[in-house]
Amino acid sequence: MLMTQGLGAGYKKLQVLFDVSVTVPEKQLTVVVGPNGSGKSTFLKTIFGLTKIYSGKIMLDGVDITGLQPHQIAYHGISYVPQVDNIFSNLTVYENLLIATHGLNIDESSIDDVMEMFPHLKTYRNKKAALMSGGERQMLAIAMSLLRKPKIMLFDEPTGNLSPKMAITIFNIIKELRENHGKTILLAEQNAKKALEIGDKAILLVSGKTVYQGDANALLTHEELGKLYLGIK
Ligand SMILES: Nc1ncnc2c1ncn2[C@@H]1O[C@H](COP(=O)(O)OP(=O)(O)OP(=O)(O)O)[C@@H](O)[C@H]1O
Ligand SMILES: [Mg+2]
Repeated sequence: MLMTQGLGAGYKKLQVLFDVSVTVPEKQLTVVVGPNGSGKSTFLKTIFGLTKIYSGKIMLDGVDITGLQPHQIAYHGISYVPQVDNIFSNLTVYENLLIATHGLNIDESSIDDVMEMFPHLKTYRNKKAALMSGGERQMLAIAMSLLRKPKIMLFDEPTGNLSPKMAITIFNIIKELRENHGKTILLAEQNAKKALEIGDKAILLVSGKTVYQGDANALLTHEELGKLYLGIK
């Protein structure tokens, strides 16, 4: 579904990613893991048109989307949920969901459908999003993203700063998006062990280079890579 070829990207003069050639298969959950600062977030941002691309290309369903603006990439069917600032805190839950439908032909019943999936959100329907817990805010961000009916969903550390219990809830929601909604997902995660347990495929980035891509389980049980880069014993 999504493919990068020889991708080099970064910020102004600082190149962060080098020659990244990976594929993200349809209807699977691909996790991006790697040490701090290895370029996981930069990789997701690059796919969504938020960094400077020096080389290579990004293909979505055979269409070259390299260098497009984020709003154009969104219209091509990619959704991106950044780790922070992914909702409007001073708007209500309903208003946030309404904003997520902007520019798309999505009727209001879809908002109710999405809210059914997340009972927590229903409780806060007409209350400001700022009143919700961190985990509930992540659920709102995921719901906003899902509402746009994307072909592929990018999540950047949706469990960052959450309690272990809430992190499991969010991981389960992501698993459900893949299993029951047939979504293609690219998930960047610090919690490598948990991510590799739920992922189908994995990409290991180290210093902006691809050190591994393949089955998530094979990376989880790899003799060296897990120990060397991911703190997995
Ligand atoms: N907006 C930016 N401007 C300049 N450099 C940046 C910017 N964002 C990230 N970087 C740099 O890019 C490199 C990769 O950062 P990135 O955030 O992609 O890593 P990461 O793998 O997501 O790390 P973490 O596990 O901490 O989330 C780091 O050296 C970082 O300092
Ligand atoms: Mg990051």
